Amino acid sequence: MDLIREHDIDPSPLAGKRVAVLGFGNQGRAQSLNLNDSGIDLVVGLRDNSPSENAARGSGLEVASLEDAVTGADVVMMLAPDEILGSLYRKIEPHLREGAALGFSHGLAIHFKQIQPRPDLDVYLVAPKGPGTALRSLYSEGKGMLALWAIDQDATGNAKDIALAYGRAIGCARAGLMQSSFGEECEADLFNEGAVVWGAVPEILVAGFDILVEAGVASEIAYMECVGELKLIAELIETRGIAGMREAISNTAELGAVLGGPRVVDDHVRKRMREVLDEVRSGRFAKALRDEAARDYPLLRSARMRARALAVEQARLSLES
Ligand SMILES: NC(=O)c1ccc[n+]([C@@H]2O[C@H](COP(=O)([O-])OP(=O)(O)OC[C@H]3O[C@@H](n4cnc5c(N)ncnc54)[C@H](OP(=O)(O)O)[C@@H]3O)[C@@H](O)[C@H]2O)c1
Repeated sequence: MDLIREHDIDPSPLAGKRVAVLGFGNQGRAQSLNLNDSGIDLVVGLRDNSPSENAARGSGLEVASLEDAVTGADVVMMLAPDEILGSLYRKIEPHLREGAALGFSHGLAIHFKQIQPRPDLDVYLVAPKGPGTALRSLYSEGKGMLALWAIDQDATGNAKDIALAYGRAIGCARAGLMQSSFGEECEADLFNEGAVVWGAVPEILVAGFDILVEAGVASEIAYMECVGELKLIAELIETRGIAGMREAISNTAELGAVLGGPRVVDDHVRKRMREVLDEVRSGRFAKALRDEAARDYPLLRSARMRARALAVEQARLSLES
């Protein structure tokens, strides 16, 4: 698959254009600061009485209401939580100028038709593959974060040029832009979040910690073994791949991994992972996310409380003190 890099991209589609970034959270803050440092004419659109207004102004950025930010903008980037993007779009649609570009950093709202954009709009995706904090720090170090890009609507014939210029301006093209689609990006991202890195890995770490502690191992030692080594393996896999990681560890660790790993992640686990993918593809997950927001996030609130009370968290705090 071809990676498009900075030197392949013409920045001029954004020259003299006004970009409105809606939201100043994880991605909104990082993308706004990167765009600003790339010399883009930028306004941050925030809801009334937004707690983020002082932070955005304090970073030297222009701030306006959502409606005012969108009015006259050539590019509008939708960087509020996915579950409210449908209602946000309905609010701003009357203010979008004809032929404007509407950008996303995740495919959910478009793929699951929570937004049906006006036909005169260009609709593009630039989805950085990592958190906003890292997107910003990489940019500040002169580096970039890999991103996926895609086009959903090309009303003006310029959608691709705008998407690539946008990916360049937030620094992602320094690492590379990879073509995808809204559906592919959305499904792969939600699957990973539910069944792999963000969903399954923390559960495995906690289960491993609990089993060692139940077996009489000191909680700090169980923490160092089961949680503390995650960064080391992540760095090894990133720099050397899975095969290189295996070669870099001792024969003892490698044999343990070869004998134990496939027994834990067995066919039963793979079946459960496919169930998560089905849930994503059917739209059941997207519906659950919207329902969760409509009920003011009861599941997320209680999960956060439970996570703070876990024994593994107490072990981490004890090691830090
Ligand atoms: N988190 C990541 O690192 C990451 C990575 C890749 C892609 N993405 C994608 O980037 C997009 C933004 O995600 P995020 O994590 O950056 O979101 P986030 O941090 O949760 O967004 C918070 C921002 O959204 C605003 N907001 C919340 N509800 C709003 C409403 N009803 N109307 C208007 N503004 C509202 C907040 O306003 P206030 O400031 O007024 O509270 C705040 O500025 C999503 O599509 C996500 O999937 C995120």
